[in-house]
Amino acid sequence: MKKINLLFIVLSLVAVVNAQNKPATPQLGKDSLKEVIKAMTLEDKIYMVMGLGEDTWKNPATGPKTVLLAGAAGRTWDIPRLGITPAILTDGPAGLRIEPKQEGFSHPFYCTAFPTATVLASTWNTPLVEEVGKAMGNEVLEYGSDVLLAPALNIQRNPLCGRNFEYYSEDPLIAGKMAAAMVVGLQSNGVGTSVKHFAANNIETKRTTINAIVSQRALREIYLRGFEIAVKEGNPWTVMSSYNRLNGFYTSQNPDLLTTILRKEWGFKGMVMSDWWGGDDAVAQMKAGNDLLEPGATQREVLREALKNKTLSEKTLDRNLMRILDFIQKTPHFKGYQPSYHPDLEAHAVIARKAAVEGMVLLKNENSTLPFKKVKKIALFGKTSYQFMTGGTGSGEVNYDHAAALDEAFGTAKFQLSKTLTDRYRQFIDSVRQHEKKENQKFAVDFAPELNLTKDFIQSQVKNSDIAVITIGRQAGEGWDRPESTFSLSEVEKNLIKNVCTSFHAAKKKVVVVLNIGGVIETADWRDWPDAVLLAWQPGQQGAHAVVDLLKGTENPSGKLAVSFPMKYAEVPSAATFPGEPKDNPVNAFYTEGIYVGYRYYETFKVPTAYPFGYGLSYTSFKYSDLKLSNTLFDNEISVSVKITNIGKTAGKEVVQLYREAPKQAIDKPVKELKAFAKTQLLKPNESEVITFKLDARSLASFWSGVSAWIADEGKYKIHVGASSEDIRATGDFSLPKKIMVEKTHDVLYPNLLLHEISPEK
Ligand code: BGC
Repeated sequence: MKKINLLFIVLSLVAVVNAQNKPATPQLGKDSLKEVIKAMTLEDKIYMVMGLGEDTWKNPATGPKTVLLAGAAGRTWDIPRLGITPAILTDGPAGLRIEPKQEGFSHPFYCTAFPTATVLASTWNTPLVEEVGKAMGNEVLEYGSDVLLAPALNIQRNPLCGRNFEYYSEDPLIAGKMAAAMVVGLQSNGVGTSVKHFAANNIETKRTTINAIVSQRALREIYLRGFEIAVKEGNPWTVMSSYNRLNGFYTSQNPDLLTTILRKEWGFKGMVMSDWWGGDDAVAQMKAGNDLLEPGATQREVLREALKNKTLSEKTLDRNLMRILDFIQKTPHFKGYQPSYHPDLEAHAVIARKAAVEGMVLLKNENSTLPFKKVKKIALFGKTSYQFMTGGTGSGEVNYDHAAALDEAFGTAKFQLSKTLTDRYRQFIDSVRQHEKKENQKFAVDFAPELNLTKDFIQSQVKNSDIAVITIGRQAGEGWDRPESTFSLSEVEKNLIKNVCTSFHAAKKKVVVVLNIGGVIETADWRDWPDAVLLAWQPGQQGAHAVVDLLKGTENPSGKLAVSFPMKYAEVPSAATFPGEPKDNPVNAFYTEGIYVGYRYYETFKVPTAYPFGYGLSYTSFKYSDLKLSNTLFDNEISVSVKITNIGKTAGKEVVQLYREAPKQAIDKPVKELKAFAKTQLLKPNESEVITFKLDARSLASFWSGVSAWIADEGKYKIHVGASSEDIRATGDFSLPKKIMVEKTHDVLYPNLLLHEISPEK
């Protein structure tokens, strides 16, 4: 007995000593990334550079892995042996996109549908956008996700691009500043972002193959500039490469874009992931620095083969893995965060409403029609009034609990609506829905033609109403571009506006048009008829309440356009080349307008717009005075200050815009370029605020393709400070005595096909 005991003790001691000598398996978070990677098998590595999408994670052939959050777009692989947890990736720009129904929970996981990016940009209020990001990120955290696949900041190059609602502006400074603010707000929760879609993804038609042919200058000044600002100022955890080809190469397979520019020039330290199934060569993606393939999974065999025949080195995989693991270490999942599954949706609705109010743009307000005066009874026209659009379609949708339409919002604010009219529209909406399959019902009304009302019926509404409000709607979405016909109003829509105006004006009653649209439309041929026009865009779940706040004057409009409204579609600089060539099945898209996108074009080529960039009315007015420049000669930096005074009778905020006009030497330049902007505090009547802008050398420079550098020409620089790109209220100038080479860049990303750009000199 004793002997056996002794033997047992000896054996146990040996075991303990052995266990102590045997090196423990490295663990992510405890050991260095290098050690963790060293402990990975080649198969581990192949699995780890690919994710899993919703469509693949339930499939035993590719997993199996459990669904961690229903409705998430994807996740990363996990290796429990090494302490590597999965990271959950969820869409999208206007709020967290997950399924309300989650296994094991009895309460729905509703999320807040915040105003779309176009609305946020129209606020010109970066601290407010940061606040929205903070609230949105809190839902990401508290519902158990790790990354929001947002913000999206592609340039709104053409009004027909289906995803414009997810994007900010036609101008890269606004796009970049808004995206940076959104990243900072979101990431303040300890969750990640994915700045997307990098880059030149401005067309949805054939989006996974189309080749955008863009000059180096247009890339640097327009299409990459916003990303540069977002990366440098926002520090996003991840960047998402785009679907399209750019100058001949898939963006996800181009080391010049993902390594030379993004990492070497801009100093990006995070991880790059592909767009879902983007690109066509997993090996090239790995080499280019597209670290993670989403959802990947099916490309494993290709990587195995490439590693075997040495067309891909393990070193390259290890480099990408370093970035993936570094990212995973930061996630709430890795840190063991226990979500509450109960974010404060009520508090977030308040922020969504505030942002919607600030992002709506008052386009017309003749004879101070707005805010409402003595209005009690409203004749509410337009199908969209009864089914107000919160956002567009596709991965940017949000599953929210409830969004009021205008009829409900007016009711809440104690206005009376005409019952016959309301009944008529409700019947119409019901019948549209009934004729659609269940899966299409959600957006059926948005896409249905407008209800055709007879003149007599319209006339019958005049007597019992104080005012008419008509909503015109346009839906748009991911994966398709709007047909050109949707740019103009249909005959039925125009007749509706015209007939309502005729009947109501005859009785000395006013008409207000509300635009609930995802992208720019034609306004020039009907805007003279109504008394007021409010552009609501697609303003999220609180949007209808925000419209009412503005119409009745509880709030004063302070949004301004971050995109120009042309007179006609044909006058858009990319109209002739959009979506690409050949038109019906495009392969190449020639960006022949070069840097002349939006107002840069309209101003320089003297093409009048319906509403210019930066435009928006208020119920008060502002005086600009005391413009001061810190110096008459530029030396490193110059500051510009201007005093803004509310000279009206209502408290309001003003968006102040600084444009610079640069001397033209060797290369042509736009007449004006936005170089700084700010929004005042809420100024009471007679109250003033001094706004100060700082301009550095980069703000003076243009990109010279021949020498691949940002260069500021010597000469006289003019500063235009104004209320819109056309409404300049104060000017000043300073000189740059000697040309400055501000920044040398790499000579990369040149067009693979001959590109003839327009020029104001020709
Ligand atoms: C979209 C991305 C989105 C991803 C995941 C893609 O089709 O282009 O914006 O984040 O799907 O849903």
